[in-house]
Amino acid sequence: TAAAAGSSSDGENARAAAELARRIAAEVARRRNFAIISHPDAGKTTMTEKLLLYGGAIHEAGEVKARANARSATSDFMALEKQRGISISSTAMTWQYQGSCLNLLDTPGHQDFSEDTYRTLAAADNAVLLVDGAKGIEPQTRKLFAVARLRGLPVFTFVNKMDRPALNGFEIIEQLEKEFGLQSYPVTWPIGSGDRFCGVYHRPSNKVLLYAKAGRGKAAASEQYELGDPALAGIIEADLLEQLMEEVELLQILGDEPSAEEIASGAVTPMYFGSAFNNFGVDLFLQSFISLAVPPRPAKAKGNPAVLAALEPSEDSSSSNGSSGSKAAGSTSIEGTVSPESTHFSGLVFKLQANMDPKHRDKVAFVRVVSGKFDKGMKVKVARTGRVVSLSRPQQMFAQSRATVQEGFAGDVIGLTNPGAFAIGDTIYAGPELSFPPIPSFSPELFAYLRCAPNQKKAFAKGVEGLLGEGAVQVLYSTDEYITDPILAAVGQLQFEVVQYRMKDEYGVDTSLEPLSFCVARWVLGGWPAVERAGRMFNTTVVKDAYGRPVLLFRNEFAFNQVIAEQGEKLGELSAFALP
Ligand code: G4P
Repeated sequence: TAAAAGSSSDGENARAAAELARRIAAEVARRRNFAIISHPDAGKTTMTEKLLLYGGAIHEAGEVKARANARSATSDFMALEKQRGISISSTAMTWQYQGSCLNLLDTPGHQDFSEDTYRTLAAADNAVLLVDGAKGIEPQTRKLFAVARLRGLPVFTFVNKMDRPALNGFEIIEQLEKEFGLQSYPVTWPIGSGDRFCGVYHRPSNKVLLYAKAGRGKAAASEQYELGDPALAGIIEADLLEQLMEEVELLQILGDEPSAEEIASGAVTPMYFGSAFNNFGVDLFLQSFISLAVPPRPAKAKGNPAVLAALEPSEDSSSSNGSSGSKAAGSTSIEGTVSPESTHFSGLVFKLQANMDPKHRDKVAFVRVVSGKFDKGMKVKVARTGRVVSLSRPQQMFAQSRATVQEGFAGDVIGLTNPGAFAIGDTIYAGPELSFPPIPSFSPELFAYLRCAPNQKKAFAKGVEGLLGEGAVQVLYSTDEYITDPILAAVGQLQFEVVQYRMKDEYGVDTSLEPLSFCVARWVLGGWPAVERAGRMFNTTVVKDAYGRPVLLFRNEFAFNQVIAEQGEKLGELSAFALP
């Protein structure tokens, strides 16, 4: 009977495991995780608001903006944020819509951006490119797009503000192709713009949806007609209708519907037109997005073969059944991919934020769940330190209010109160050992010496180390041993301000900045021997990073190109990104 009892509990365990696997697969399949890439003022806040409205996540449009405006009154964010009236942090918003679970990773919308913006993008699976119809592609969009490209994200383009005079859709298609090498597939197409904007043509249904101006917070009621419906002649002005018929024909010549693979790889961008402010075209976008966007993807990792699928069917896989039993499981470490559907929990710390609540002086580590199921209170191991941490106070971020999370699946972002256990790029896991590759540091463009009063050197060093560890800023050093002041290297001016603020607030150190007039940095992958081979270089300054590796700083692109032309061969490969 003992054996019988054992086998029945085995059976229960197997059933529970199968049920967990089924649940995880279903949750992963319905998740769509994305970030919006745009230039300030293109309408990201407005668009976010409208998207949230569809899931009933907010009840009145204007709430997101109201929250942003009322931030100084209602939230306990960093004082610097209050002073500047901007959001320095990027958080995640989660809501449900028609059976899908949407995770929007919010990147700060202000002019200054920081590495956080990039890292947030590094945690997204899909990118939505929001373009102001009148302005087309703008500078900040270019930078962010480069990151999306680097990660091979699918890109969805929404051309906004069509109720204002806008560029012709074909001009925007051309810009995307010229600037980004991105092919467009318009899913909707605008009819007129500005005062003459009268709706969009929806290609999948061959219908014309007419635009009616809406009040704030209301969805514009839209009438629908078949494209060939004679009634349209009485509604749309003759020249616009004629133009539409011509453009629809042109679109057909332009290209067929892309394959799922072409969209997923980011080669072709599905394109939509509308007006976020008037809530027109947003629903068509959202429905199409849900069906075309990719669910959380497998992630590259290194670790125990029991959790990883080998990257490529390796030559030596003589045992065709692929069982890990052939290797000494647990002792070997392979490179492979972790499926989001694995039943073993793993996550990546992509952002740290200090002092979100000054009353508690807490720190929050933002974790993107990569695989398995996250449970409140679960114990995980930090791959870097081997430390076991209990995740007892997990929070999900909705705009700026925090709610306690009970569970999470791949693609979800969870905020963990950080007992100093986490650093950016940390892997946490609950099953067999694994670790994700480091998140690249992004090429800095601003440089400045950071200095303090002589009697504060000790606290200063501690502060620099702390902020460096958190990834708040990159630090470089002069190769001259007598110059010990660190050089802060950042992608946005705001990072400097945050460092100075936090040095004072958290470490009690007054600092001063001396800006340096460099704007390009390149890591010399060949190391110091390559720098020596190159010999004397003009127009560049050699410094070292926190790991002692050589970095070249240039005053401008011109100087960079000149050095490359003259000494590029000897220097060998250069990288704009530093890998820890
Ligand atoms: P951002 O987060 O990307 O910076 O942009 P945000 O949504 O704040 O929008 C910037 C401005 O553009 C806002 O006007 C917003 O109302 C307007 N806007 C957004 N979408 C549309 C659209 O589809 N059509 C038109 N015509 N305008 C749009 P504002 O005057 O700066 O603010 P507000 O007074 O309207 O709040």
